[in-house]
Amino acid sequence: MSTPRAEALVLFGITGDLARKSLLPALYRLVEQGRLTEPVVGVVRGDWTLDKVRQRAREAISARLPLDEKTFASLCELLRVAVVDYDDAGTFAGIAEQTDGLGHLAHYLAIPPSLFTTVAANLAAAGLNERARLVVEKPFGHDLASARELQDTLTRFFPEERLRRVDHFLGKDVIEDLLTFRTANTLMSAALTGPHVRGVQITMAEDFDVADRGSFYDAVGALQDVVQNHLLQTLAFLIMDRPAGDDPVAILDAKAEVLRTVRAVLPADYVRGQYAGYRDVAGVKPDSTTETYAALRLYVDDERWSGVPFTIRAGKSMAAKTLEIVIELQPAGGSPANLIRFRLDPNPGVTFDLLAKSAGGDGTDPVAATLDFACLSGDDVRAYTHILEDAVTGDPHRFSRMDIVEECWRIVGDILGPPGAPVVYRPGTWGPEEADRLTRDGRWSPLENAPR
Ligand code: BG6
Repeated sequence: MSTPRAEALVLFGITGDLARKSLLPALYRLVEQGRLTEPVVGVVRGDWTLDKVRQRAREAISARLPLDEKTFASLCELLRVAVVDYDDAGTFAGIAEQTDGLGHLAHYLAIPPSLFTTVAANLAAAGLNERARLVVEKPFGHDLASARELQDTLTRFFPEERLRRVDHFLGKDVIEDLLTFRTANTLMSAALTGPHVRGVQITMAEDFDVADRGSFYDAVGALQDVVQNHLLQTLAFLIMDRPAGDDPVAILDAKAEVLRTVRAVLPADYVRGQYAGYRDVAGVKPDSTTETYAALRLYVDDERWSGVPFTIRAGKSMAAKTLEIVIELQPAGGSPANLIRFRLDPNPGVTFDLLAKSAGGDGTDPVAATLDFACLSGDDVRAYTHILEDAVTGDPHRFSRMDIVEECWRIVGDILGPPGAPVVYRPGTWGPEEADRLTRDGRWSPLENAPR
């Protein structure tokens, strides 16, 4: 697979929300660390100038990171702008002008997915697809059929080996570490096989609402926004085999293989919720049935995980912001079960809930052994430094391959269908109680990053 390093990063959506929140701070980090020296061409509409983009970058970066003027000046040196009307192929010449004389290009589309095919076609019409790769943000389609259709259209202009699908969770060190920590430690690999595991809970709770992105979110909902992609990718790292060697393609193959063993979720194993007040958010339909909370149970037809219930939940306006995995082991005798708790974000680390002889009697007392993975990050700016760097180098392993995207759509395929009314839950809570029944013993384990 030929993956030449790009000689410019062409950034569609540089004035958008994702760029403000994550991409511009990540570009700054890359410049600071000397990992990006290529021009960054921001694709903008007519009312934006280079000065305005630089100002926007300054505001975005200083909102997330301490800004050093010298580093910022180096980033500004790399910035260029091309004024483009996405619907007008002729205007794409502006990108050609800004990249004149440069070799391979990386076009990064941080724009609404409804524009992907138009932009890809117009890049091709301007001859900007020949020595270039196309990097597209999520979501990739809205079900299996539309993902395949999108794939067919995009590959007319950019063949598969030059197409990259972003899932920024794949840029999180701590998610990759799920595989490393589990497979590099005998202690972990011995414990985490089917016969010892009783149940797994994965929680992605966010304590904020969707006020600043109502119209995007209302068309998507929690299942498609974070479960079909981020959380199924997380699940894959938790249950997959580590292939021998470090071949990135072999890792993608192993991930695709394990996802093929995940059963499609049954409608009866799915609970949808919507926080009270969601329908008043700007951009949200007044009678919206979009879920802001999704909980589901699934099973894996793999020898090691057979019969183990995996319960996954994700929601907005919840009681805390945390991404955690709780693995419950089979208890020994009548003792309470040992738990292995992965904190992915914030405060990455793992805690083992163990038992020891109680001081005053014959029983047992709980003891918690807590490790912090201070060197690993679940932070999205750090994740996007990996994603943007890989967009430039072409390294495919932190992107989502098409067969993996297809498996993820298959797994949720039977619960995408016509939505009934979601259960309303109070903001600041853990979501609808109806979802408790999906867990192994009818309750969600308390989380470490959450108020008890
Ligand atoms: C995005 C979703 O992909 O991931 C958001 O669209 C979500 O709704 C975000 O908040 C969470 O990512 P992170 O890295 O900020 O926790």
